Amino acid sequence: MNQKILEILEKNDKYCSHGDTVNYADPPKVFEGCEGSFLFDENNTPYLDWQMWYSAVNFGYKNKRLSDVLHKQIDTLPQLASQYLHKEKVDLAEIICKYMEEKYGVKGRVHFNVGGAQAVEDSLKVVRNHTGKTHQFAFMGGYHGRTLGASAITSSYRYRRRFGNFADRAHFVPYPYCFRCPYDMKVETCDTYCHKEFEKLFDTEYQSVWDEKAKQCEFGAFYIEPMQGTGGYIIPPDGYMKKLQESLKKRNVLLVADEIQMGVYRTGKLWSWENFDIIPDIFVFGKAITNGLNPLSGIWAREELISPEKFPPGSTHSTFASNPLGTSVALEVLKMTQGEEFEPHVRARGAYFLKRLHELKSRWKVVGDVSGLGLALRIELCEKDGFTASRALADRVFNEGLKGDLLVNDKKYGLVLDIGGYEKNVITLAPSLLITEEEIDLGIHLFDMLLRRCGAE
Ligand SMILES: Cc1ncc(COP(=O)(O)O)c(C=O)c1O
Repeated sequence: MNQKILEILEKNDKYCSHGDTVNYADPPKVFEGCEGSFLFDENNTPYLDWQMWYSAVNFGYKNKRLSDVLHKQIDTLPQLASQYLHKEKVDLAEIICKYMEEKYGVKGRVHFNVGGAQAVEDSLKVVRNHTGKTHQFAFMGGYHGRTLGASAITSSYRYRRRFGNFADRAHFVPYPYCFRCPYDMKVETCDTYCHKEFEKLFDTEYQSVWDEKAKQCEFGAFYIEPMQGTGGYIIPPDGYMKKLQESLKKRNVLLVADEIQMGVYRTGKLWSWENFDIIPDIFVFGKAITNGLNPLSGIWAREELISPEKFPPGSTHSTFASNPLGTSVALEVLKMTQGEEFEPHVRARGAYFLKRLHELKSRWKVVGDVSGLGLALRIELCEKDGFTASRALADRVFNEGLKGDLLVNDKKYGLVLDIGGYEKNVITLAPSLLITEEEIDLGIHLFDMLLRRCGAE
């Protein structure tokens, strides 16, 4: 480690709060450059990135088309208070709304913010304002951010434990995680048993959520990640989400889809809910909408929930919401992807990647499960029985990948991974949507080397 890196680490130790996630790694990792699917360290060693800033950089680092738009916006209208209008904002809102109108026949409006959790907060306001209800349903294993409101609908107690009472804590429902079914069922024969269990909550008032006389549910909305992200890139079984939405409609409970991680073509569709034959009442987006450049997030909600009468001026606001740098890049992201060919491209690349993962699974006993939708893919690392979760192996593979010393044709590489899953044993893969087949092959080769190095079988 050179002197410059040592100094950076020393300053991090002395001056930076360790309350973020940097110090999950010991020592924290420093990078100095990025391009396409790669990050570069101080020695200019390339690290193939299989996680792309938690799926914020879907279109590759330093994507020229997007960087050019950002530069142009810096030279024209880089700053503008959110209380004034600029063209890129309304054009972007128009594209998102027209997509919903033309494809699904639903009218709505968009409200922008900056970070994902902030947009989740805005969606909570819309839900509370419309339903008058403070409490929500959400999934076990779900992740919606770390502000107080978002933490209340995020299942991990770890994120709430030290921060007092969460009076608005959600009612958490098991997610259909078929590889480790919460009800010990088999997906081939269960007939979506988990959905039946959810339905039972509405049998009588004594199940605690439903007043049969008033036909009222205590919960305003169900917050879902249609494909679970931080929970381990889990794809729900066929038909589950549709049945869930039908159950909610019967009880006048809104459906809110959190698209912050899986949106913007990660799963092969613009919004991941489009894979599951449902239409949410509200969806929340962030991250990749600007490819990780100037942040922008937002919500789309049905007109009836967010009309000016319902959600009047000043209902929510943030200084940097609808910032012109963010809106201009997001507009270009959508223009760039709206052609006929983008969706099939992601699906084809995802199919190739998944094929290579299945081959990997056939070579290693410790690879318990692989699956993927579009370019959201997972590798579940286990003991050699192929089922018992191995957090230790996932941690080792993760740390070894960051060392940047894997030799391929006499050249050093690293592999950037991220770990998710209930048992922290799932490698969650969110590569660039523009990753090449050669880069996928290189990554598989590096992953094989990591497993070998970690003594896996
Ligand atoms: C599904 C989901 N929702 C919300 C968030 C929070 O977004 P942010 O970190 O931008 O606040 C994340 C971040 O990882 C996420 O994956």
